[in-house]
Amino acid sequence: MKLVDSHCHLDFPEFEDDLDDVIDRARAAGVGAFQTICTRLRKFEQVLATAERYDDMHCSVGVHPHNADEEGQSDPDALIALAAHPKVIGIGETGLDYYYRHSDPAAQQRSFRAHIAAARATGLPLIVHTRDADEDTVAILEDEAGKGAFPGLIHCFSTSAMVAERALDLGMSISLSGIVTFRNAEALRDVARNLPPERVLVETDAPFLAPVPNRGKRNEPAFVADTAACVADLLGMTPNELATLTTSNFFTLFSKARANPA
Ligand code: NI
Repeated sequence: MKLVDSHCHLDFPEFEDDLDDVIDRARAAGVGAFQTICTRLRKFEQVLATAERYDDMHCSVGVHPHNADEEGQSDPDALIALAAHPKVIGIGETGLDYYYRHSDPAAQQRSFRAHIAAARATGLPLIVHTRDADEDTVAILEDEAGKGAFPGLIHCFSTSAMVAERALDLGMSISLSGIVTFRNAEALRDVARNLPPERVLVETDAPFLAPVPNRGKRNEPAFVADTAACVADLLGMTPNELATLTTSNFFTLFSKARANPA
C-alpha cells in the first residue's frame, strides 16, 4: 500500500527535533510520497531544504492567507520564478480565511488572484485554503477561470457541498484531512460520500488536525493512513483500493512530481 500525504508543514518548529523519525514512521505506515507546503516566501528556502532532504518529498511555493498583510503577492512573478525549481510542484497554500482574519480580506483576495495567475502561467496546481469565505472563494475561482483554466484543489476540505460542487465544476480536486474522522463531522462525511472518486486526495495538514484516534496530539504524515481508512469506508473501498486511487489522483494532478522523481 502506498499513500501520499499531499499537504503537510514539515518545516514547522513542531518537527524540528525528530523529522527523520517522523518520516520513517510515515514510510512504515505506507506513505510513499509527501508534499510539504510553503506558507511564507521568506520561509521558502527552508521549505525547499526540507524537501531536498528526502527523495520522496516535494514542496509548494506560496503565501498563506494568514500572512497576506505581511507578504501577500500583488503579481505572480516571484511565485513563477521560485516554481521553476524541480522540487516545486504546487502553488500555495493560498485562498481566503475570514474566520481568523489574521490579514485584511482585500489583501487576501489580491494575493489569492496573484497565486491563481501563477498557477495558470506555470500549469502547477493551485492549493486553496478556504474558511468562512465560501462565497468569495468560489466567486474568485470562477472569475479567474473565466480568464483561463488552471489546475487545483481545495485542501483540508471542510465546508459545504456548494463549494465542492462548484470547485469540481471548475475541474478542481478535493483533498480530505483528519477532520473527516471527527465524531461531529457527519455533514462533511455526507459530502465526501458523493465526491467523484477520481477527484479525491488525502492529506494530514500536519502538525495540525490529527485524525481520530490521535485527535488533539501533534499530527504527522503517518496518520494519513487513519484518514485514508475513513475515506475508504465512505467510498465503499478497501484501504488498498483507496491508497491506489488517491495516489494515482495525486500524481495525475501534481504531474510535475512524476516528471521529477527526486
Ligand atoms: Ni496547510
